[in-house]
Amino acid sequence: MNKSIVKLIDLRKIISHHAYLYYTLDSPIISDFEYDNLINELKLLEKQEIKIIKNSPTNNVGSDFLRSLKTKKHFASMLSLDNIADIEMIDFFYKNVLKKLKKKKKINFCCELKIDGIAISLLYKKGVLIRALTRGNGKIGEDVTLNVYEIQSIPKVLDNIINMPELLEVRGEIYIPLSEFYKINEVKKNIQFSNPRNTAAGSLRQNNPKITLSRNLMFFCHGFGICYPKNNFINHFNFLMVMKSLGFPVNNKLCLFSNINNIKEFYYQINKNRKSFDFQIDGIVIKLNDFDDQKVLGSTSKYPKWALAVKFPSNENITTVNNIDFQVGRTGLITPVAYLSPIKISGVVIKKASLHSKYEMYRLGVYIGSKVLVRRAGDVIPYIVKVINYELINDINLIQKKCFFPTQCPICSSNLIEFHNGKTVKCSNNNYCLDQKEKLLLHFVSKFAFNIKGIGKKILKKLIYKNIINEFSDFFKIQVDHLTKIDRIQKKIANNIIYQIKKSRSISLDRFIYALGIEMVGVETARNLSIYFGDFSSFMQTNVSQLQKIKNIGTVSSGIIFNKINNSSFKEKILDLLSFIVIKPNNSSKTNKRSFFFNKKIAITGRLKRYSRDKLFFLLQSLGAIQCKYISQKTDLLILGECPGKKLYKAKLLNIKIMEEEELLQKIRC
Ligand code: IVH
Repeated sequence: MNKSIVKLIDLRKIISHHAYLYYTLDSPIISDFEYDNLINELKLLEKQEIKIIKNSPTNNVGSDFLRSLKTKKHFASMLSLDNIADIEMIDFFYKNVLKKLKKKKKINFCCELKIDGIAISLLYKKGVLIRALTRGNGKIGEDVTLNVYEIQSIPKVLDNIINMPELLEVRGEIYIPLSEFYKINEVKKNIQFSNPRNTAAGSLRQNNPKITLSRNLMFFCHGFGICYPKNNFINHFNFLMVMKSLGFPVNNKLCLFSNINNIKEFYYQINKNRKSFDFQIDGIVIKLNDFDDQKVLGSTSKYPKWALAVKFPSNENITTVNNIDFQVGRTGLITPVAYLSPIKISGVVIKKASLHSKYEMYRLGVYIGSKVLVRRAGDVIPYIVKVINYELINDINLIQKKCFFPTQCPICSSNLIEFHNGKTVKCSNNNYCLDQKEKLLLHFVSKFAFNIKGIGKKILKKLIYKNIINEFSDFFKIQVDHLTKIDRIQKKIANNIIYQIKKSRSISLDRFIYALGIEMVGVETARNLSIYFGDFSSFMQTNVSQLQKIKNIGTVSSGIIFNKINNSSFKEKILDLLSFIVIKPNNSSKTNKRSFFFNKKIAITGRLKRYSRDKLFFLLQSLGAIQCKYISQKTDLLILGECPGKKLYKAKLLNIKIMEEEELLQKIRC
């Protein structure tokens, strides 16, 4: 058999399996992005092999049924939506509509949110809710009437309006508010639901209406099926307004547009603000507003041609690992890094991702040539979620080469030492191999350390190469003519660098401790150490048990810090350095105590406009605040940036004070 047919058959089996997990069991094991990706791959193959288009999951709406629920026929089929992933592609949809309608008068489009919930059809007979069916396979749905009776926002009896249809199938989406979703997951610490959509589906599609009641499900109306004997609504927008007046929840981010640019604007606006809604959406839906226009466009067996969903960009993408490199950090830690075929995720081109450790590299099973799923959530650095390895796929193009973690340092060839089951692997060279030295010295001059402006990676490399800089103290021995020996550094630049170095000589204790590049001592820990010890010599004379009294320092880190500060060559280097610098005491605790932020536990969510998160925390910590990475009852304040994440819902849930970035900056200035 032809290889692409074998792949096509495999893909169908795989997709059917995942459709069953998603639609029938509400327990998917792959993300929506991966699922859509498989469907697109299959569609492409089906285009080439037109003969075998029958029985394809690309033609199905939904999937099988749960045996425990009775099934019934919909009066009018429940169709799905055609979708695109790039808003600029709506030009094709728009042109097709213009072509089919052949009219010059303006065409109205109703733009709505695409709610990520579970589709439902509510049958009203003479204004009374008599039946509720899930979409099922589009023709037959599962009967969840008793469960739907428990959803408060769904009207059970409609006010008698003029021309009330005898039979009306009201359609929409049942969803779980995000605040509710997080609350449930909080309670069920161990058995977490994978996402809000599946939680809503799982809460609705079972035999116990009490569970539905306990989950506080909600509903948004977005259309209708049968309307018997006659559809008296003027257009789609009018239908939604009538439904609203009858007590149905209709989402208020609803807009009528006739200009395509306004639709695009709507999309970008919603995408920007979507994280602030208390429900999950995965795109927008564009619908022809006029019913006659809808009829002209018609439908396929799967979706109407008068509507289109435009999905939001995914925070995931699939790519290939082109190479795996092993980098040596400033403390000698070896980190495997995967170099990827460039891909865009949330508008950013991603070319590499850290594999973190030997343990993680083998756990993921990443090889050179592997297809991998890469995720980038919010501000987070991209990471490899997993290797894509759908068992059945015979991918003829996939050539993978196993990559082994080295046993010797890739820079100086010293032996590597392994700790914690491969979670930490370090170079054994105590005299710092070249990469280590470069990174350590770069760390020393970096923003939150000595902050020596003008010495970047390139210049530092040359200074090391020319043997001008070897140790921390060498920075303070540099002369103008050392610098002018380096190409492209003229006298003026050299003078400026010397000035910056001089300026940096007086340094606060927290910055100084951080600058030393001790393993496990980041900005926050350096700050905690400086607050605890107050002066450098007390820090150098400490012991393990004292170190463990400090916030965020545990058994492992206390041992590492203690060993480092008692290492004789480290001590020697510090002694040499101390003769060039002045360590200032930290900002006086009096100032801190007077500050609004003193002792406040503060978290940040979303993208900040003015500062990076690091910088803002640095500022806040200097005012006595304590950084918290997660929201808990102990958090005092949440700082709200653009596109906030789930911390916002948790904070609302726990009644934690929320402050916008602007207000915060004003408070800092006071
Ligand atoms: S209209 C005949 N409008 O998305 C048109 N659907 O992925 C049918 N959905 O099956 C759907 N928000 O369950 C429509 N504002 C909205 C929607 C929406 C969410 C769901 C719906 C549909 C699915 C397709």
